[in-house]
Amino acid sequence: MSHHVAVLISGAGSNLKALIEAQQAGQLAVEFSVVLSNRANALGLKHAAAAGIPTVVLDHNRYPDRESFDAAMVAALQPYAIDTVVLAGFMRILTPVFVEQFAGRLLNIHPSLLPLYRGLHTHRRALENNDQEHGCSIHFVSNVLDGGPIVAQALVPVLPGDDEDTLAQRVQTAEHLLYPQVLQWRALGQLALTDKGVLLDGNLLTAQGRQFAIAEGSHSLLALGGAHGQPS
Ligand code: GRF
Repeated sequence: MSHHVAVLISGAGSNLKALIEAQQAGQLAVEFSVVLSNRANALGLKHAAAAGIPTVVLDHNRYPDRESFDAAMVAALQPYAIDTVVLAGFMRILTPVFVEQFAGRLLNIHPSLLPLYRGLHTHRRALENNDQEHGCSIHFVSNVLDGGPIVAQALVPVLPGDDEDTLAQRVQTAEHLLYPQVLQWRALGQLALTDKGVLLDGNLLTAQGRQFAIAEGSHSLLALGGAHGQPS
């Protein structure tokens, strides 16, 4: 039975594109049931349409509050019997109306090594702090913004001469490798959120999840660790 995925976007949709490409390459065993955007002009909608994925636009401005917008999204997704909801550059804060409906089935990608730099301008903040290392995190979504249990992180170096753009690009390259990997874990039933924490292949992950680096020039993930009892 296929694993039904909804992807929520607001903008460029480069993560959506990477996920679609991984699926088309046979590396991701999911069915993209629907792509939902809160902006009609989100570029990512074009990637969905090109791949033949149904799209839904719900303009948040047409709802009186966050809760009613979230309820409309829940209703829009209901017919698709969604197994996993993937937030990929979805720029609305979700309320419990949505989060609790999809508890344990809702993933987000954030451009920092959480718990560092929740919220916006993560690359700028990493540069201002002279961090040597930066990256992205994928986490289950909870009612705390960017605060849910972490599944995986991809680490990238901060290089001399980096500005926000060069650093953002390096992080995005990592995002495009990490999200297909994490979603494949979900699709294959290897990844679950339990009351003890995040389980991957039956192992409880550490607070920062499974960690990866990006292999120089090879565009692939290198495992660093992250399960209890493993080197990290
Ligand atoms: C990514 O950097 C992601 O970490 C953040 O929003 C951005 C979305 O980019 N949540 P895209 O729309 O997938 O290109």
